[in-house]
Amino acid sequence: MTGRFITFEGGEGAGKSTQARLLAAALKARGQDVVITREPGGTPGAEAIRELLLSTEGPGWRARAEALLFAAARSDHVETLIRPALQRGAWVVCDRFIDSSRAYQGGGSGLSDADILELHRIGSEELLPDRTVFLAVSPDEADRRLALRDGNSADRIGGRESDYHARVDKAFRTFAAQDPARFVEIEADAEPEAVHARIMSALAGLLPS
Ligand code: TYD
Repeated sequence: MTGRFITFEGGEGAGKSTQARLLAAALKARGQDVVITREPGGTPGAEAIRELLLSTEGPGWRARAEALLFAAARSDHVETLIRPALQRGAWVVCDRFIDSSRAYQGGGSGLSDADILELHRIGSEELLPDRTVFLAVSPDEADRRLALRDGNSADRIGGRESDYHARVDKAFRTFAAQDPARFVEIEADAEPEAVHARIMSALAGLLPS
């Protein structure tokens, strides 16, 4: 039996990494083989591309080159880590995936959704998650969490202006509304344990007992 692929999505400061860890721990406690990973990154090749993408050194990337780099990092990640794990029956829990490219390089930077999905077809043979947990937080709460986490040290993309992040947020909400079979939208303005409980009940139909 192949495993299940769960992704976490949302803007900066939504609590994705924390919730990915809590879900992975809950699955392990139920005896599952679990791989927890993140994007951009997750494999040595993709982590090297992450550094190119997020470093604040140098001139940075225009929108198209940036989209291609994210697709290249994802291609390596899918081919060498995610698909092999799913094929051996593991659950894969991933902090960000294709919907981040659709929201940031699409909604934020203005590339079309069709182009982003075409890059995903070429790079990753269109692999889609079984479920995508979209963590929705209010802008005030996201700002508060980011100030606690990052201080003034945002990366190249996290440091973009608030209009950019507002477009990203709107894009995530649109994708979640368009595809309710894949997306689970969770209000995430609460304490981590409370958000985790909401996620567990939203995924109940899929989870092993
Ligand atoms: P990261 O430190 O993982 O951000 P966060 O902790 O906020 O999730 O940095 C990832 C950054 O890269 C984040 O600003 C979102 C951006 N990103 C894209 O623009 N496109 C993508 O496809 C992915 C995976 C991430």
